[in-house]
Amino acid sequence: MKQKMDPWKSFEIKDYDKLMQQFGIDKINNVKIPKSHKYFTNGLVFGHKSLQTLFEAKKNKKSFAMMTGLMPSGKFHLGHKLVADLMIYFQSIGAECYVAVADIESYLTRDISLEEAKKVAIKEYLLNYIALGLKSTKLKFYFQSQGNKNYMNLSKFVSKETTMNELKDIYGELSPEKMISAFTQVADILHPQLKENGGPKPVVIPVGIDQLPHINLSRDIAKRMKEDYKFIPPSAIFLKLLPGLKGGKMSSSDPNSAIFLSDDEKTVKKKIKRALTGGRETVEEQRRLGAEPSKCMVFKYLYYFFEEDIKIREKRCKTGKLLCNECKKDLNDNVNDFLKKHKKALNAAKKNYKKFI
Ligand code: TRP
Repeated sequence: MKQKMDPWKSFEIKDYDKLMQQFGIDKINNVKIPKSHKYFTNGLVFGHKSLQTLFEAKKNKKSFAMMTGLMPSGKFHLGHKLVADLMIYFQSIGAECYVAVADIESYLTRDISLEEAKKVAIKEYLLNYIALGLKSTKLKFYFQSQGNKNYMNLSKFVSKETTMNELKDIYGELSPEKMISAFTQVADILHPQLKENGGPKPVVIPVGIDQLPHINLSRDIAKRMKEDYKFIPPSAIFLKLLPGLKGGKMSSSDPNSAIFLSDDEKTVKKKIKRALTGGRETVEEQRRLGAEPSKCMVFKYLYYFFEEDIKIREKRCKTGKLLCNECKKDLNDNVNDFLKKHKKALNAAKKNYKKFI
């Protein structure tokens, strides 16, 4: 059965390989990546669509861009950091950057007022992006509700290039609000290629895999608008859904499932202490049988965020030489070191974020 995907609801993915086959997602390890980032090698970015076109443009000294968007709700957590780091990576290799605040979408689908969305977008997202290293050069950080005329028109014109049946096939049942949100997102994704933004060029969209339906719709529509707009189908890279600390889903509304970049030392310690591991009931048992790193969130977080080579840790864990407390302490030290530096950068960002808007 085809994996059901509703980008407005949470879902779990059991088998990434199967998903890739079903949705024509290519493996990332077939692409040669300049100045590669660790997320490309540790499996977090597991797949892509036509990413080569972007790097070809780079090689030929042609322009290329990165475009993504944020949902202005809740506090900024480690899951959000993944997309932010990739935005910054693409900016560092020379991409023009477009970042949409999805305030139309959050108003329509989550009942968040435009004012509230603006506050959250700046305080939680923009400031953290800057602290993580986003630069203001070649960057357009914009609000969906404040886009210019051509962008607004595009968000309506794209509706002519699809059918109700196609939308149902891609999204399942769709309310009017969701439909408008989808068209707005298609405009986000395609507008870097409008004449006023320098015309057609390869654009990569780094997103969590939950956004795949929007990518597929945008690519289909881009092809159909080829005559008039000469759009190049947007490229995409897909991130795995980062599991919560307790296993299961990570969510802003469940504070114990996520580490927020605003958490203090004690809170981080408490959350990591309660994290799901692959450990045994007793120390004795663990020494004897070893533990199961594949089930362990602490292991995953260490691998995804902090350690290049996890093989030694894995082996020590499986053979019972390593106990869970030691890994938890390592993760805790890493996270708190990072947050300490990050908080300084955040204070600096508070002073100069105005030039980003
Ligand atoms: N729908 C996205 C989310 O829920 C936000 C978004 C809006 C977006 N426009 C976009 C993502 C364009 C990628 C590209 O997070």
